[in-house]
Amino acid sequence: MARIKPLTTAERSALRTEVEAAKQLSSHHLLGMQDLKPEEIKLIMDTAFMMKNILSIRTKKTAHLQGRSVITFFAENSTRTRLSFDMACKYLGATTSSIGASDASLKKGENLYDTAKTLEMMSTDILVVRHPQSGAPHYLASRMDASVVNAGDGMNEHPTQALLDMMTMIEYKGAIKGLKVAIAGDAMHSRVMRSNVWALSKVGAEVRVAAPPTMTPRYLDQMPCIVCHDVREACEEVDVIMGLRVQLERQRSALFPSINEYAHFFGIDAECLELARPDAIIMHPGPCNHGVEMPTYIHEHERSVIHEQVANGVAVRMAVLFLLNAKRNAKRAELELLEIQSDTDQIDY
Ligand code: CP
Repeated sequence: MARIKPLTTAERSALRTEVEAAKQLSSHHLLGMQDLKPEEIKLIMDTAFMMKNILSIRTKKTAHLQGRSVITFFAENSTRTRLSFDMACKYLGATTSSIGASDASLKKGENLYDTAKTLEMMSTDILVVRHPQSGAPHYLASRMDASVVNAGDGMNEHPTQALLDMMTMIEYKGAIKGLKVAIAGDAMHSRVMRSNVWALSKVGAEVRVAAPPTMTPRYLDQMPCIVCHDVREACEEVDVIMGLRVQLERQRSALFPSINEYAHFFGIDAECLELARPDAIIMHPGPCNHGVEMPTYIHEHERSVIHEQVANGVAVRMAVLFLLNAKRNAKRAELELLEIQSDTDQIDY
């Protein structure tokens, strides 16, 4: 005699996908690309392409995060990251809420841990954090039960940006392995550069970083990349040219004589495109200072994939939320599968 109503094939398959995915992840947090293994990056990429398929259907909805709560806590300004996490939560069926530094009680002197713990205690499963202090998400992850996703910490990492950049490269170039990628601009202050260098080098790309000497961090030659001081040299025969935003808000003193000189010597221009492979793509994490990192005609060039990067940001963030939730629930899901197995063994058909 049947003891329970068996799960539908789709429900069982979703549970199996969760369990399998969770087994391949080493943590229920996403703090940086430096921590991820190539297999984990591949898992996130595969999942992101699945999520992109979901976004192409009419309803754009799944219930993978139904019953889960996600809070995005942005202590720095953001358009793309904050909103794409928010949209990703909604497409996955999660309950979501967002708070920025200007609305939070941080303004009244509350410390970061108390703020984050307060958010966690509202039955929050995943906390997405952007903070001007490098290491802030790591500090919170070591003290909280909720999963923590780093949405950009100071000058350290911006892992979901690197993941969406990789997804875009795969879309346009087929694979990352063997690609030559030039990253040009304000390397000193760029968490996007750091996450991309860690991520791309792990999966077999050659990464060149070009920055003026005053914007080249001392540690750069310890990272898995080729350091250049000439943007044109960096662009020779590359498959991808990625501009970095000049982060005036993080500069304590002027690091170049004038915007015009920066644009002339370090901006990505038609000559850079000439030097790159004929099918090289142009990328930029945004927001872009038009006329500084690149002129508008390069930003809107037929080989620019900057708008596609934004679109892929939603799919990547859906994938990250889905996988971290799976990791959190791995034990429960595994037990549930075992239970289903033993119960279905007893069903009289
Ligand atoms: N690329 C990026 O992080 O953009 P936002 O600051 O708009 O989120």
